[in-house]
Amino acid sequence: MMKIDLRSDTVTLPTAGMRAAMEMAELGDDVYGEDVTVNKLEAKVADMFGREAALFCPTGTMTNQLAIRVHVQPGDEVICDKLAHIYLYEGGGIALNAFASVRPLDGDLGRLTAEMVERSINNPHDIHQPITKLVCLENTVNKGGGSMYDFDEIKRIKQVCKKNGLILHLDGARLFNALVETEQTPQDYGKDFDSISICLSKGLGCPVGSVLIGSQELVSKARRFRKVMGGGWRQAGALAAAGIYALTIMSTA
Ligand SMILES: Cc1ncc(COP(=O)(O)O)c(C=O)c1O
Repeated sequence: MMKIDLRSDTVTLPTAGMRAAMEMAELGDDVYGEDVTVNKLEAKVADMFGREAALFCPTGTMTNQLAIRVHVQPGDEVICDKLAHIYLYEGGGIALNAFASVRPLDGDLGRLTAEMVERSINNPHDIHQPITKLVCLENTVNKGGGSMYDFDEIKRIKQVCKKNGLILHLDGARLFNALVETEQTPQDYGKDFDSISICLSKGLGCPVGSVLIGSQELVSKARRFRKVMGGGWRQAGALAAAGIYALTIMSTA
């Protein structure tokens, strides 16, 4: 009898087709920018989201943490929901990697509203308070039982960010779950977020892999920090090939 392991969407195994794609992948040294398959995946994902660049990383924790590290200065504040993965499950990385503080808000199943965000922005002229710099949303929300944002609320949050000079990051570890359920496209998300992290290893069947998406400047800076964290990998093309396969064959987005 076939058993299905429902503990997590991370325990999936690659299909035969994905394994074949991995075996056939053209490889090179990615630290030298010479892994053709990694380059192809990064170009494909950037294009899907209508953005300049993308960076292939081992984990969603790394792509989130790199984005936060690039976006904030030590002492800045990050707004997120109290259930956010970046706050609860990334080992205090916001403090450890970016030396920033967090304002965790009491949202609805992990979802913030524009009004909540606006109320939580510190007065930039009050030297007692950290400077609010970054808003992080998660869609869908892991700890919210898979709750999903109404895209109009995301648009309203974007307007608040724009008005107040804040950066907007998306932890889209499971964004593809939202995309199959709604009419939005990856490009819609690419327009409103300054950076997006997606996971290929959750719901898409890849053994490993996440991608950080954004401007060329963001990705160049993140590539440098990834190296410092020991994340400069070499012949990663076999893993990237699984990602290309997932986004081509296994995703409807
Ligand atoms: C919402 C969310 N973001 C980020 C991550 C981190 O992904 P990884 O396990 O690849 O570090 C997870 C992992 O479950 C997650 O659920």
